[in-house]
Amino acid sequence: MSEFKLAVLASGRGSNLQALLRAIDAGQLPARIVGVFSDKPKCGAISIAREHGLHTVALKPRDYADRAAHDEALFSAVADVQPDLIVCAGYLRIISDATVRRFEDRMINLHPSLLPRHPGLDTHARVLAAGETEHGASVHAVIPALDAGPVLAQVRLDVGKGDTPESLAERLSPREHALLVACTTAIAGGRAWLAGGRWLFDGQALDQPLRLDNHDQLQRETAHA
Ligand code: GRF
Repeated sequence: MSEFKLAVLASGRGSNLQALLRAIDAGQLPARIVGVFSDKPKCGAISIAREHGLHTVALKPRDYADRAAHDEALFSAVADVQPDLIVCAGYLRIISDATVRRFEDRMINLHPSLLPRHPGLDTHARVLAAGETEHGASVHAVIPALDAGPVLAQVRLDVGKGDTPESLAERLSPREHALLVACTTAIAGGRAWLAGGRWLFDGQALDQPLRLDNHDQLQRETAHA
């Protein structure tokens, strides 16, 4: 089987990139990271990528006339590595519609909420402000509308009485890692793929997102009586 190539986009500390690298090293994720791309040359994700000897391209938006020009430069570099899948793992810039369409059905994003609840930023604080008892993370296909693409899978987390935005972020982080690794593994291994804007999993269309269970396995939601 030919090698499955991943391009990772990140703007932050890079813990999700690290989780993908660990899963590849452990033989769990049948893929290779062919490049790490960023809008922040000094971010943790770029340092981690360099330590692993990975190809990196980091371009500051302010060096470009506008969003379209920055996207064109960064995503031309992404196209150069010919990825099978682009994984947005904490890439904190909105990607222009033209660029999203260029990589249609080949780009996923990790988002820290149970979509469709709380697209956008500050999700932990918004969950608390809304008095919700459940939080989580989603992996979804990237489409031109922000955080609105079909969701492949989610992981859930109970919100405790004493939770703060920081404690929620801290508890969610390892579950996000497991979710991203499980979803990327399912796609790289051919169990999950996108067709006509819908996810197929084991050959069957998904009517609702898969759920990551406590053993880090993706499960179909079962209807409760
Ligand atoms: C994650 O919490 C993800 O949900 C959000 O950005 C964070 C990235 O963290 N979109 P890291 O850079 O992978 O550590």
